[in-house]
Amino acid sequence: MPLIIRKIKETDIDRLAEIERDSFSRPWTREAFRELFDIPYARYLVAELDGEVVGSAGMRVIAGEGNIDNVVVWGDFRGRGIASRLIEELIRLGEEEDIKDYTLEVRVSNAPAIRVYEKSGFKGEGVRPGFYEDPTEDALIMWRRG
Ligand SMILES: CC(C)(COP(=O)(O)OP(=O)(O)OC[C@H]1O[C@@H](n2cnc3c(N)ncnc32)[C@H](O)[C@@H]1OP(=O)(O)O)[C@@H](O)C(=O)NCCC(=O)NCCS
Repeated sequence: MPLIIRKIKETDIDRLAEIERDSFSRPWTREAFRELFDIPYARYLVAELDGEVVGSAGMRVIAGEGNIDNVVVWGDFRGRGIASRLIEELIRLGEEEDIKDYTLEVRVSNAPAIRVYEKSGFKGEGVRPGFYEDPTEDALIMWRRG
């Protein structure tokens, strides 16, 4: 079965919370995912392979800009271009709404994520010192400007 990128459904929440716990020191809870459905400016996509949710990525449309967050792929499925596909699709959705500029933050040590974002046209424009906790680390602020 091919990789499917689609909008989040309420039935994805348990699986997404599991992927989060496996991937982040401060994972999103089920509640955080549930709240997405009530936020009109939130766009959230999942990647499904052989019927199983293996990744996700979100975007909030704020002041006409796309703020991308929570890009994650289940460990066994990394390195197959799934994160790149998720970001590509978020940007395609954004372009439908005429969004030109996209931004995100990433830990300065997160080389695989930075690589994915650079491949999608993002460039580092600044550093936010001590932005992350557990462990404390600077954030690289990246932008993709249209
Ligand atoms: C970051 C993450 C989402 C990437 O997902 P993915 O589906 O594996 O990404 P892709 O397969 O699209 O691309 C991975 C790229 O990183 C590269 N990469 C992998 N490990 C790397 C490393 N240690 N250093 C540099 N680049 C690396 C791969 O070679 C690939 O680039 P290429 O296509 O040019 O070869 C995934 O690793 C993940 O879920 N990490 C944990 C959560 C996280 O950190 N999310 C980002 C928060 S901002």
